[in-house]
Order: sequence, then structure tokens, then C-alpha cells
Amino acid sequence: MFQAYYMIVLFGFAFSLPNMSGAEHVPFELNYNITYSSHHTQFLNQHEEIVLSIDKHSGSLIYFILLEIHLHVNKCGNTFTTSLRRYGSGLFGIRLKLPSNDTGGIITTFYLISLPNNDTHRDEVDFEFLGNKQPPYTLSTNVISNGNLHREQQISLWFDPTTYFHLYQILWNQHQLVLFVDEIPIRVFKNDPSIGPIFPTKPMEIQGTIWNATWAKHGSLPDWSLGPFKAYYQGFDIDGCPATNLNTTECHDYKYAWNGEYYKSLNQVQEHAYEIVKRYYLKYNYCTATHPSPPECKINN
Ligand SMILES: *[C@@H]1O[C@H](CO)[C@@H](O)[C@H](O)[C@H]1NC(C)=O
Ligand SMILES: *[C@@H]1O[C@H](CO)[C@@H](O)[C@H](O)[C@H]1NC(C)=O
Ligand SMILES: *[C@@H]1O[C@H](CO)[C@@H](O)[C@H](O)[C@H]1NC(C)=O
Ligand SMILES: *[C@@H]1O[C@H](CO)[C@@H](O)[C@H](O)[C@H]1NC(C)=O
Ligand SMILES: *[C@@H]1O[C@H](CO)[C@@H](O)[C@H](O)[C@H]1NC(C)=O
Repeated sequence: MFQAYYMIVLFGFAFSLPNMSGAEHVPFELNYNITYSSHHTQFLNQHEEIVLSIDKHSGSLIYFILLEIHLHVNKCGNTFTTSLRRYGSGLFGIRLKLPSNDTGGIITTFYLISLPNNDTHRDEVDFEFLGNKQPPYTLSTNVISNGNLHREQQISLWFDPTTYFHLYQILWNQHQLVLFVDEIPIRVFKNDPSIGPIFPTKPMEIQGTIWNATWAKHGSLPDWSLGPFKAYYQGFDIDGCPATNLNTTECHDYKYAWNGEYYKSLNQVQEHAYEIVKRYYLKYNYCTATHPSPPECKINN
């Protein structure tokens, strides 16, 4: 309780990332498409809000993508052919309210992923919210490059993410990747070529999903009698540089606000906030769980 209070006081005066497009109230269809299981989605508020739900029947699928950039992927049989809109840099955000009730075993996500989904070579940046009976809720994050999955971190959220919408953002430019929760940095991954080609550089699209996994509930299934479990998403404007080919260098241009000076590194207030997150809310860090500690950990911790 004290810690939560401290967080509120500290961030009460707030700092705010410059507003980009300002066009927050855009309908879902402007930038996104439902690519799977459309009967488990519901639109609210003139399509400025979408609800993804999961129940026992939809849940038998291991993995399903429900939200995906408009015109990005066409499903032809079993193969995906990519089309125009993937991104090479940006400040990608979504407002999300997690399913309530006992959601053990349910995972809600918002992430960037390169396509085609080539397991061994893909780049990906993840927010994964693990269901629970009550706060604190665990937010798991990962930065995957060239299929290397072992860069997971977990924090405990300092609020109840099931009662209100909160803003989750991914800043991705040629200098750094930063994951923000309500504009508070919770993870930084710097681009330092001297430690190797481990920074995500492939064009990525944005996806959101809800799914079930037994590992998220110590081997048991969700309590489906409490379902369907519903995740609410808002904020479908996108501040990103569309990538026209596999080489994302064109997206490093300073004409894009998110590549500018302000976004090269954390400012002092952000640094301070990040220190507090690491000190009080970080519950798992691959950097300390792996021996020897991977080289990027020295510059990111
Ligand atoms: C949206 O996805 C569905 C299912 O994959 C597809 O049939 C439809 O053509 C897509 N619509 C757009 C506008 O991309
Ligand atoms: C994945 O990407 C790599 C590098 O581009 C390529 O060599 C490999 O064949 C791809 N695998 C699949 C299954 O597409
Ligand atoms: C998800 O839940 C369904 C229904 O209970 C179950 O059959 C399935 O095995 C679960 N999937 C995973 C990956 O846990
Ligand atoms: C939790 O689930 C139970 C059983 O379906 C329902 O009666 C109750 O209203 C739910 N509570 C919330 C907060 O959704
Ligand atoms: C990517 O494009 C830039 C110019 O836009 C070029 O300088 C660079 O060599 C290219 N990189 C690769 C790997 O092709």
C-alpha cells in the first residue's frame, strides 16, 4: 500500500510525452482489422472501443490474433502474405482495461511483431498481462530479436488494471526501445551495435490478443464458469513510420517526432521514475536470472 501511494505521489505531478497526432478518437477500422474469431469481438462507442472476449469454446485455441493492422495481412490458405502497412519506428500506444474476476490462466496482450511470423528469425516487443484473482497483477514484457526469446522481464503493476483504462506504449526508434505504463518507463532496451545485432530492426505490425495458457495458472485451466473474460481496447490512432521494405533505415528520419532529441534517452524525471519501478516493482529480470548476464544488460539496467 505504501509503495502504491508513493508511486501516485511521485507521479502525481506528471510528465507527459508530447502528444503526436492528437487524433485519439479514431474508429478501430481506420488502422486495424479483426483477423480471427470475429464473433468474439464487440464494438462500443462508434467503434472507438473494441472488446475482445474469450470463453471455454474459443479458448480451445492455443493462440489467436484478434486485432491487427488494417490491410496488413491476407490469409491465403495457411500462408500469410504481407502487404503494405508495417512500421519501422514509432510511438505505439493503446488504452486497455483488463478482464476482471478470477482471470488466472488468461493472458491479454498488445505487441509489435515482424511478419511473416518466422519463429526463428522474428522480431517482437510484447506487453503480456497475466490474469489473477486480485491485484497485484503481473505485466510480463519481452524484447525478441532474431527469434531470441530469452529477454523476459516482469513487473507488478501498482494499480488494479481491471477497473479503469490505462495507457500502454512502446517507443521504438533507432536509439532505444522504451515500454511505458501511463507514461512511466518500465523497461528500456538501448540500441548499441557494439554489443551485437540484437536490436529489433525488422518492420513490425501491431497486434492484440486474448488467450489461455496453463503455464499462467500453475498448470490448471481458467475457471471458465466466471467467463466470458473481456478485455477492452481504446485508442486506435497510430504514430508510426510505415515501412515500405525490409530495410527500415528510412524510418530513422528526424522528420518523425519520435526519432527526435526528446526520445533519444530518458530525461531526468523519467530516469528517476524508472529507478523506482526497478527498485519496487520489478519481480523477474532475465538479466539477473541468466549467468553470465547477457551483454546488453550492462547498458540497460
Ligand atoms: C480483415 O481480416 C479478414 C479475416 O482475415 C479478411 O477477410 C478481411 O479481408 C480483412 N479486411 C481488411 C480490410 O483487411
Ligand atoms: C526465416 O527467415 C530466415 C532468414 O530470412 C530464412 O532463412 C528462413 O528460411 C525463414 N524460415 C521460414 C520458415 O520462413
Ligand atoms: C484453453 O482452454 C481450453 C478449454 O478449457 C483447453 O481445452 C485448452 O487446452 C486450453 N489451452 C491452453 C493452451 O491451455
Ligand atoms: C464474476 O463472475 C460472477 C459469476 O459469473 C459474476 O456473478 C460477477 O458479477 C463477476 N464479477 C465481476 C466483477 O465481473
Ligand atoms: C538500408 O538503406 C540505407 C539507405 O536508405 C542504406 O544506406 C543501407 O545500406 C541499407 N541497409 C541494408 C542492410 O541494405
